[in-house]
Amino acid sequence: DWTMDSLIEQTVKEIRQKVGKDNVVCALSGGVDSSVAAVLVNRAIHDQLVCIFVDNGLLRKNEGEKVVETFKNNFDMEIIKVDAKDRFLEKLKGVKDPEQKRKIIGNEFIEVFKEEAKKIGDVKYLVQGTLYPDVIESGSPVASTIKSHHNVGGLPENVGFELIEPLRMLFKDEVRQVGRELGMPDEILNRQPFPGPGLAVRILGEVTEEKLNILREADSIVLREMKKNGWYNNVWQSFAVLPDIKSVGIMGDDRTYAYPIILRIVESNDGMTADWVKIPYDILEDISTSIINEVYGVNRVLYDITSKPPATIEWE
Ligand code: XMP
Repeated sequence: DWTMDSLIEQTVKEIRQKVGKDNVVCALSGGVDSSVAAVLVNRAIHDQLVCIFVDNGLLRKNEGEKVVETFKNNFDMEIIKVDAKDRFLEKLKGVKDPEQKRKIIGNEFIEVFKEEAKKIGDVKYLVQGTLYPDVIESGSPVASTIKSHHNVGGLPENVGFELIEPLRMLFKDEVRQVGRELGMPDEILNRQPFPGPGLAVRILGEVTEEKLNILREADSIVLREMKKNGWYNNVWQSFAVLPDIKSVGIMGDDRTYAYPIILRIVESNDGMTADWVKIPYDILEDISTSIINEVYGVNRVLYDITSKPPATIEWE
C-alpha cells in the first residue's frame, strides 16, 4: 500500500530527527496501540528504544511470556520483563472497592515503571500509543471525566519524559493497517481490548491468588472456545468474571459449594456503549461444559444479558 508506506517512512524520519542520540522507553502491554507504536519507533531507532513489560500478576494465562516472545522473536526488540506480582498483590490485600483497586494498581505501575527506567539511565523520551480520537477527546471536559479511569494501568502522566506519539493522527483501523504493513501478526492486531488493571477488575471484591488462578483458567477457556468457533474476532470483548459468592452444586455423589463464573460477551464500536451478543446456545454450552469440567472450584456458569448502558462492560 503506497500511502501506508509513505506514512510509515515519514513517521520514521520524524522520530529519528526528534530523538537524535537520546534513549527512549515504552510501556509494552501487548495491546494494539502501544504495540504498533513500539514497533514503529523500533523501526526508526532500533536499540535506542527499550520496552518495559510489567507483569503485575493480574494478566491472563501465559500472557506475559507470549507478548515478550512475540516482540523479541519477530522484531528483535529490547524488552525488560519485570516480575512485580508480589508487589501488586501485597498492595491489593484486603482492598474491595473497585476504584481503590484501580488507583493502587495505577500508582504501583508508575512506581515500577519509573524504577526500571531509572536503571536504564539517560532516558529522555516515552512512547505513547495515543490515537487521534484520544487527542480530540482530551480537549472535551465531559469525555475526559467519563473515560478518565480508562487510562489507569497505563501511564496517565508522562512520568517526567517527553512524549513520542507516532499514532496521534490515526484512527484505530489505520493503526491496524500500519501494524500489518510493519509485519505484525494478526494475533496482536486483532486482540480484544484488555483493561490495564487486568483481572483485578474481573474479580469482584478482594483479589487473592486463589481467585486469580480460578479466573485465569476460566478466562483461557473462554478465549480458546471463542477462537475455535471463529467468534473471537466478531465481538468487541469476550471474557469471564468471578463474583464474590458461592452456591451449592452436586458432583458425583458429593455436594459442592463453589464459585460461579459469569460470561460477558459484547459488541461495541468504541466501548462507550455496548450490546450483549446473542451467541448461539451450542457455543455457550461448550464454554459452560469446558469451564465446569476443567476449572476446579467452579460449579455454575452464568451469561450476562445486559447492554451498556445501563450496565458497564466490565463488572467493576
Ligand atoms: P466499561 O466497564 O467502563 O468499559 O464499560 C469500557 C471499556 O474500557 C475498558 N476498561 C478499562 N480499560 N483501564 C483500562 O485500560 C480500566 O480501568 C478500564 N476499565 C474498563 C473495558 O475493558 C472496556 O473495553
